[in-house]
Amino acid sequence: MKKLSDLDFKGKNVLVRVDYNVPIKDGVITDDLRIRSSLPTINYLLEHGANRVILISHLGRPEGKVNSEYSMKPVFDALSKMLSGVKTGFYPLPDKDLDFKIPEEVKVALLENLRFNPGEEENSDEFAKAVAKATRADMFVQDGFAVLHRAHASTDAITRLLPSCAGLLVEKEITNLSGVLKNPTHPALLIVGGAKVSDKAPLIEGMSKKFDRIAVGGKIAADGYKNDDKKVYVADDFDENSAGEKLDIGPISTTKFTDLIIDSKTIIWNGLLGYAEDPAYATASTIVAEVMGEKKDATTIVCGGDTTGFVENLVKIHPNLSYSLISTGGGATLEYLLGKELPGIKALDN
Ligand code: 3PG
Repeated sequence: MKKLSDLDFKGKNVLVRVDYNVPIKDGVITDDLRIRSSLPTINYLLEHGANRVILISHLGRPEGKVNSEYSMKPVFDALSKMLSGVKTGFYPLPDKDLDFKIPEEVKVALLENLRFNPGEEENSDEFAKAVAKATRADMFVQDGFAVLHRAHASTDAITRLLPSCAGLLVEKEITNLSGVLKNPTHPALLIVGGAKVSDKAPLIEGMSKKFDRIAVGGKIAADGYKNDDKKVYVADDFDENSAGEKLDIGPISTTKFTDLIIDSKTIIWNGLLGYAEDPAYATASTIVAEVMGEKKDATTIVCGGDTTGFVENLVKIHPNLSYSLISTGGGATLEYLLGKELPGIKALDN
């Protein structure tokens, strides 16, 4: 896999795939880790003479349709603040009826949500070509670690059109995670929660080969996920609202989770254990984050957009909490740890 140091960016327009799929509540970004984590690559390219950096990303799952709820505009505003002193610009996706020219003085441009066009998830060569052409890109840098488990136009097709390499975030995540993959200390525990039920269930099955214990909470458990494997513990008591919706795992399951954490040497947590946006249902996630963050005799990894955001916000209030690694990837991190070949990495080998 080529790295930034293998290519010469002087005078080039560089298209950079980032993952700015950040949690947003009422128009406010609740965790900007994925945006902050993209800055080293952007700065590297500018410092190495790139004429312009054009950033592309998805946000949420708008299913190929324009939907202002999923606009990248709040991300653009946050990014522009972080890049103070650099002229930034926000542009629509290329469209056959719409041509845009990025003004010469704009050094960092961000395009609108890639998933507003169905071609992105269809891994369409046409869409990749349209993006490369509209942005006058000379080269491609893959720095969206969290989306490398998807074979989409911006992770796969685009690499067949432009000289491509990995960015600094992708390099860093792979270095950190491959250390864990090679030498996990046992017992190793995986905690899985979150809302992407259809994505997570197949991963849990594969994970029991790698992990000694797996604890399942969040929406997957609330929806009645079943697994007969003795290594897998699925939360079975819940806090419910007045309508009977299971919105957090209950005290008995939370205690089981914390007992497992205390007794493990490698702990990886992906996915909130309840509807933690509402503090009334953040109890289990808070307790798990605290017990993990206080544990100093184990490798502790937190991954996934919502989970890392939750943990980072908790660390601001309790600076004594610390983790071995906070990974920007969710599904990508899990698939990587499972030893799967990520399509976005494979594409860079072409
Ligand atoms: C993530 O948050 O895991 C990535 O941004 C990928 O998003 P997706 O699961 O909607 O493809």
